[in-house]
Amino acid sequence: MRILFLTHSFNSLAQRLFCELSARGHLVSIEFDIADAVSEEAVALFKPDLILAPFLKRAVPASIWSAHPCFIVHPGVPGDRGPSALDWAIQQGVPTWGVTVLQAEAEMDAGPVWASAQFPMRAARKAAIYRNETTEAAVQAVLQAVDRFAAGNFTPERVPGAAHALMKQADRALDWARMGSADILARIHAADGFPGVADTLFDTPCHLFDAWPESTLRGTPGSLLARRETAICRATADGAVWIGHVKRAGGIKLPATHAFPEACALPEVPLDGWWQAAAPTWQDIAYQEAGGVGTLRFEFYNGAMSTAQCLRLTEAFRWATTRPTRVIVLAGGEDFWSNGIHLNTIESAESPADESWANINAIDDLAEAILTCSSQLTVAALHGNTGAGGCFLARACDAVWVRDGVMLNPHYKNMGNLFGSEFWTYLLPPRVGLDGARAIMHHRLPMTAQEAVQCGFYDACLPSPGFFVDVVRRAAELAASPDLDGRLAAKAEKRAADEAIKPLAAYRAEELAEMRRNFYGFDPSYHVARYHFVARSPHSWTPRHLARHRDLDWKIPA
Ligand code: COA
Repeated sequence: MRILFLTHSFNSLAQRLFCELSARGHLVSIEFDIADAVSEEAVALFKPDLILAPFLKRAVPASIWSAHPCFIVHPGVPGDRGPSALDWAIQQGVPTWGVTVLQAEAEMDAGPVWASAQFPMRAARKAAIYRNETTEAAVQAVLQAVDRFAAGNFTPERVPGAAHALMKQADRALDWARMGSADILARIHAADGFPGVADTLFDTPCHLFDAWPESTLRGTPGSLLARRETAICRATADGAVWIGHVKRAGGIKLPATHAFPEACALPEVPLDGWWQAAAPTWQDIAYQEAGGVGTLRFEFYNGAMSTAQCLRLTEAFRWATTRPTRVIVLAGGEDFWSNGIHLNTIESAESPADESWANINAIDDLAEAILTCSSQLTVAALHGNTGAGGCFLARACDAVWVRDGVMLNPHYKNMGNLFGSEFWTYLLPPRVGLDGARAIMHHRLPMTAQEAVQCGFYDACLPSPGFFVDVVRRAAELAASPDLDGRLAAKAEKRAADEAIKPLAAYRAEELAEMRRNFYGFDPSYHVARYHFVARSPHSWTPRHLARHRDLDWKIPA
């Protein structure tokens, strides 16, 4: 079938559905929901058999749904209607939630239901539930709905329900004097990544994100107790929570201590080294060891890696290499492994060009430390989505194991034609060939975990449930394998041979020469793209590589 996506943006859910439907032989084209007339034009050009709205912020125009079958992916159970569906479910602590695929009609989310899928809820950020459980349920429900539509013998049924209102800041309000930590965490989670919870810090209005539990610090409810790296700890009625990110009025989302430099007056409570803390607290880099395997987790918000985070992770990695282990697993975070350099801290810097330069050099230093590690085998274990430089940073490891369901975007050009670094010119071609590398960089399309393994870019795609259990078991087997010394020797030989042909420093210098032009050259595309990305500016057009129906030589396939 020809399926047209009408969507607010090509977010990770839309990317996943694009890959799943394309893999099943459907021809998918994408139009961003910019204006009714633009959507109508897309429908006229593409003549879709089916329209799918994976992520819309407003209603589909009647001119479209009245003339074409149009499926809406609603992040709620059948009968649930209206905006803020996940926000209400999280804040109300419902035990199960789901996704419904329904047909667009005049009343929002009230059309007949083509399919639905459910999942158990857990205490996590809205964005995490959306990228994981909601996305998996959406894939299941959309594939079923599309099959039913194609079969032509299914009659969708209406499900009675009631619409809830848009969740307002008054519904999200925090009362630090009365609310316990669990309540505060649930409220911030329900608003994270958007819109955050309106509050005040240092007598200044701001929105709060990225809340973590704290188990030992205590103080007068509402008071600010401490800081650690970029996070701030605040007392609740029965304990305390950490706030990792905030957005000041008119500003962008930033690490809390960046947004509020006055936080430096708070007492600093550092952790003792890199070892995983015994009780819950804010810890972005945490190390564990078992069975000859050292595991480094780095839970960086949104997978963005600032200069300081890269420097700290490099320090932690170098320290991990001094441990008596045989394998080091770089486990990233739950939601993201890495999305490359931190575009928000860059945007907020006095000189974004200088900060871009510092950040790319810091992430390259980390990649180089991994590439040149001769004492252990290194494994990147990707539980979360990974994009741009993060995809190549992972490839710097000897093996890359990726969870089934992870979305990858191993390219840079979407960010204002950025050339990219992280040794991608050394790491990518041997895996996929020169033409393959050129195609990946040029097409700028997302890739599923399975596709990444099929094309040879990554090494193994592991089942989603029990991913980390599987990783730990495989890493322990690797550490115990009798030929490990042989593998380490082969790795050192290969590195030396590669170095003799072309030193890592040469790859780095060539990539950075291009990046210098991106950062300091006369073409401001990267700076403009970064500004719009961090400001979350709405799209004003759909890129041609997504809107296939706008290709000049587009013809309806026979
Ligand atoms: N720096 C700062 N923030 C980043 C980031 C980065 N490198 N990558 C992603 N984010 C943030 C987004 O701003 C968004 O923030 P929000 O919490 O305010 O919504 C959040 O992470 C999720 O990103 P989003 O784009 O909504 O997720 P997605 O799953 O739809 O798309 C990517 C994933 C990786 C394709 C997309 O985020 C992207 O292109 N990121 C930039 C990658 C890049 O160019 N890095 C620099 C070169 S190394």
